[in-house]
Amino acid sequence: MQYSILGKTNVKVSRIALGGMSFGTEPWMVPRELSQKIIRKAMDLGINFIDTADVYSDGESERIIGESISGYREELVIATKVGLEFGTGINSAGLSRKRLYSQLRGSLERLKTNYIDIYQLHRWDYNTDALEVLSTITDFVRNGSVRYFGATSLYSFQIQKLYDLAIYNGLERITYYSPRYNLAYREEEREGIPVCRELGIAIAPYSPLARGFLSGKYKRNERPDTVRYRTDKYFPQGYFRAEDFDVLDALENVAREKGLKPSQVALAWLFSKPWITAVLLGVTKLEHLDDAVEALDIKLEKYEVETLEKQYKPHEQHGPTKSPLA
Ligand SMILES: NC(=O)c1ccc[n+]([C@@H]2O[C@H](COP(=O)([O-])OP(=O)(O)OC[C@H]3O[C@@H](n4cnc5c(N)ncnc54)[C@H](OP(=O)(O)O)[C@@H]3O)[C@@H](O)[C@H]2O)c1
Repeated sequence: MQYSILGKTNVKVSRIALGGMSFGTEPWMVPRELSQKIIRKAMDLGINFIDTADVYSDGESERIIGESISGYREELVIATKVGLEFGTGINSAGLSRKRLYSQLRGSLERLKTNYIDIYQLHRWDYNTDALEVLSTITDFVRNGSVRYFGATSLYSFQIQKLYDLAIYNGLERITYYSPRYNLAYREEEREGIPVCRELGIAIAPYSPLARGFLSGKYKRNERPDTVRYRTDKYFPQGYFRAEDFDVLDALENVAREKGLKPSQVALAWLFSKPWITAVLLGVTKLEHLDDAVEALDIKLEKYEVETLEKQYKPHEQHGPTKSPLA
């Protein structure tokens, strides 16, 4: 396994992080027993970084992870998220102090731990004062229930705002940012990535294989018919445009020439960026882990990187929540 340092913290994390969204109850996800095997195999391979969220399968992902890591907690870096709708009632979403306290308690219980390594805002909440969010997270860090503060899918100005407010008010600084970023979605190159590099914030992309689009199993002009395509509502809307298939064609050509799988080249492209701390990979088969580990050692030539990148056409952003004022 290869490891990198989490921003400016000197905490070492594996460059492959295990994505927890695949562990759960929706048709495309992996049930409990196989999930546990995947988690155990990941740990055996030296993966010490696991990402999840309170909302994944209504807490089931956190529960599965909590049960699987018993006895290994101190060796692991566990990241979870808060903010999206979970449960019922008028206060079942957002980042108010009231909600952060109750959601953190729930995540700690489900994960069977007394601290979260990286607690992430699962999008911006336009209705909660950012100072309230920051001061609550700071309380969590000071009372020992959270180690580091992170966020996912924000606009660059929001990352900068969190950082500056923390500095001016003596609060906990954002240490970690997780963007949607892969060969077929690179809008973060002009949003979160530059600001994080400037501020020394760790960058850990999610959906590195574009939810499986970059695996090679989807073909132009063929009706996609996988379980994930049919039952993951975010998948069809995120990819499958003609321009995405142009990127996929380039990826398949480079993979063919190198005698590798498209998924491995797509991961190797991310690993070739030195500013990427780790990639959060979704694993639904044990072999996916072996492919990913091999990808760590793939060297891409400059012309191959150019081939992989040149088909991309900037387009509308997906990920960050749009402001109600926009
Ligand atoms: N912060 C956020 O808002 C956010 C959003 C989404 C995801 N995430 C995080 O990122 C993690 C990964 O996200 P993701 O599952 O959307 O994306 P992904 O890692 O891009 O895609 C995973 C899918 O790719 C396919 N795959 C993986 N390895 C493969 C291999 N070696 N060969 C062929 N196919 C392979 C599998 O598809 P099949 O199962 O169809 O075979 C798998 O389900 C999640 O678990 C979660 O932790 C965070």
